[in-house]
Amino acid sequence: MHMKSTKKRVLSGVQPSGQLHIGNYFGALKQFVDLQEDHECLYMIADLHSLTSVQNAVELRKQILDVVIDYLAIGIDPEKSVIFCQSAVPAHANLAWIFETITTMPYLMRAHAFKDAEAKNKEINVGLFNYPLLMAADILLYEPHFVPVGQDQKQHVEIARDTAEKFNHIYRPDTFALPSAFIIESVAVVPGTNGEKMSKSKRNTIPLFATDEEITKAVMSIATDSRGKGEEKNPDDMALYQIHKLFNDSADLKSQYTQGLGYGDAKKMLINDIIAFVTPMRERRKKYENDPKLVQEILLNGAMKANDIAMKKLTDVYEAIGLTE
Ligand code: TRP
Repeated sequence: MHMKSTKKRVLSGVQPSGQLHIGNYFGALKQFVDLQEDHECLYMIADLHSLTSVQNAVELRKQILDVVIDYLAIGIDPEKSVIFCQSAVPAHANLAWIFETITTMPYLMRAHAFKDAEAKNKEINVGLFNYPLLMAADILLYEPHFVPVGQDQKQHVEIARDTAEKFNHIYRPDTFALPSAFIIESVAVVPGTNGEKMSKSKRNTIPLFATDEEITKAVMSIATDSRGKGEEKNPDDMALYQIHKLFNDSADLKSQYTQGLGYGDAKKMLINDIIAFVTPMRERRKKYENDPKLVQEILLNGAMKANDIAMKKLTDVYEAIGLTE
């Protein structure tokens, strides 16, 4: 048996959502990579959550593998972190059911995601309505110290806390440790090519795993004003510099911008900096793409470790509620 790790535990999940862009990377994923160094990290692909919107086997399969390969490519290291699919750990759906029996409908109706969907008159399946409780199960099974998430997921972590408290109160105090959200805010807002927050729905992204040509095209489309070369500028006002400094935050680059570096020249430098930055990630991505067996092994290994932790907690829960002795 290995000794219990003294590192603080981190758990986060991701629901597949298409091609990664530099906003996703600097806004969240980079922190996942950095956290691995001195935390015990579990990173989960929320494939059961995906079923609330994707209902096509081929598409789902592709989305799942794409996320896993993206994670591995950006530097999530299966030697350091546990990478697993939610669907490979049955305890998640089990515990979600139990939470459903202690949660009221009016409480869940206050969730932002539900209210937004309702405001848009969307047809809401029960899975989408219960989404926060499956997420509560994802979190509480592992008793993480932190759940690094973006601002938009904060309410979900609060629902997990409330649900833990409620369960502890009804059944057995201290069954679940209360998690805290660790909102990623350092560089959370990466501007897109039109200066607004980078986001797929705004079509203003610079993709991470694109070809050189695609990266060039995206960078060339970054909006700039009409000030010419040699005019003094405040770099912090420019989307171009805000993006550039993610790849090169040297004082030298900043002062070149201040002194009126021409936008064309700046864009050329930025293209080179981005390509240099993503090259090793692309190579890693290729390696995993070409080795599906290795990817399956990583997931299997991750699922084993996750199951180990999750089953222990579920056993406690079954006892606490009287399903087993
Ligand atoms: N709902 C999260 C998102 O859309 C994904 C997610 C599912 C998650 N389960 C989780 C995040 C558990 C953190 C912890 O981004």
